[in-house]
Amino acid sequence: MKETLDFKNIGLRGVKVADTRISDVDGEKGILVYRGFNVTELAQFSTFEEVSFLLLNDHLPTREELKDFQSELISERGVPEAVLKCLKMMPGATGSMDVLQAAIPILASYDPQLREETKEANLKKAVRIIAKLSTLVAAWNRIRKGLEPFPPRPDLTHAGNFLFMLTGFLPDPETARDFDICLILHSEHSFNASTFAGREVASTHAHLYASIAAAIGALSGELHGGANRQVMEMLLEIEEVNRVQSWVSERLQKGGKIMGMGHAVYHTEDPRAAILRRICERMADRFRDRRWCELSKAIEAATQKEFRRLKGKEIYANVDFFSAPVYHMMGIPKDLFTPVFAISRISGWSAHIIEEKFAEAQPKPELYRPDADYIGNYCGLQGCEYIPVEERSS
Ligand SMILES: CC(C)(COP(=O)(O)OP(=O)(O)OC[C@H]1O[C@@H](n2cnc3c(N)ncnc32)[C@H](O)[C@@H]1OP(=O)(O)O)[C@@H](O)C(=O)NCCC(=O)NCCS
Repeated sequence: MKETLDFKNIGLRGVKVADTRISDVDGEKGILVYRGFNVTELAQFSTFEEVSFLLLNDHLPTREELKDFQSELISERGVPEAVLKCLKMMPGATGSMDVLQAAIPILASYDPQLREETKEANLKKAVRIIAKLSTLVAAWNRIRKGLEPFPPRPDLTHAGNFLFMLTGFLPDPETARDFDICLILHSEHSFNASTFAGREVASTHAHLYASIAAAIGALSGELHGGANRQVMEMLLEIEEVNRVQSWVSERLQKGGKIMGMGHAVYHTEDPRAAILRRICERMADRFRDRRWCELSKAIEAATQKEFRRLKGKEIYANVDFFSAPVYHMMGIPKDLFTPVFAISRISGWSAHIIEEKFAEAQPKPELYRPDADYIGNYCGLQGCEYIPVEERSS
């Protein structure tokens, strides 16, 4: 029986559309857990590889399982030459998220298990796509400059290998580990816009790659994953700490947004932002360049002060805010910040798509199909009179 509800919630804020076993966000207390484990602890003790296993398999791996999972990821890092050829045919100015989204269906056509819809096959596909996505992003950075991509290095961690493929230089171990933590922090966040987009597509029984392509499209927007790039643009525009206060006040007074601030779910500090602020601080010390970190902290403080004054409310930095100075110090070009978000969130997306496909959390109608009130033209039940184009006066 079709259930209809007599309330409308524009934007689905606070509406529960499913159960999930993958992660939980407590927006009031500022707590995020992946499969029961607190993200702060995972960031301290775990690795992106281990967290990806956890997200996909619902338990922390044994030593043997982790070794196998790491080997599988390493062996899947290569991207078919034909996919790289397609990237070489794209204009160099193409948006990096568009390139990434376009590469996914091409990659799909090389997956030997593409149409195999068992859970085991989907887990294998997920490993392939997690491994290859970072290779694609790094390869695009080279291809758009007319350069040959650096082949992946099997002796490096997922994080270290990405930084190597991006720059051609071996990252120092501290920077590789800091990037590893960034990957952990961005890898999962419950029913956010891109994850929901991926699950929505998976609910039609589309394959994993089609669902991931949809999620990448959703992530590209500036209100979601695109915010980290906008933060960097803001930092580059403001440039000096002594310009922060006037810039922020003017922006907020004109009704503009301060990117990287505010969150649809957290009404207190985002736990990921707190960790990223600390990474920013220690990178600034390590590189003896405090400029970006000081500028970011000044913008954060000025936004909070102005927000209190104008709206009488608190606002906090979200995950995108301190990622911007951190990625900048790591040498990642700003238009790759959002693709870098994708190479991390790919693990969470894959886990959600598999959960959706195999109704692991709870049985639900197979297809997401919300409703809408029609508020357009209405000419009665017979419909408006159709006048052929040549007889229309206006
Ligand atoms: C993420 C975001 C879309 C959440 O928006 P939201 O759910 O409407 O947030 P709230 O309900 O707490 O917003 C309350 C008020 O603060 C304003 N606000 C929220 N974030 C703001 C920001 N970064 N700059 C200025 N004003 C902001 C809203 O416009 C709203 O104003 P109103 O009461 O006059 O309508 C919003 O904070 C935002 O656009 N942030 C900047 C983009 C960003 O960083 N995105 C990445 C998110 S991880």
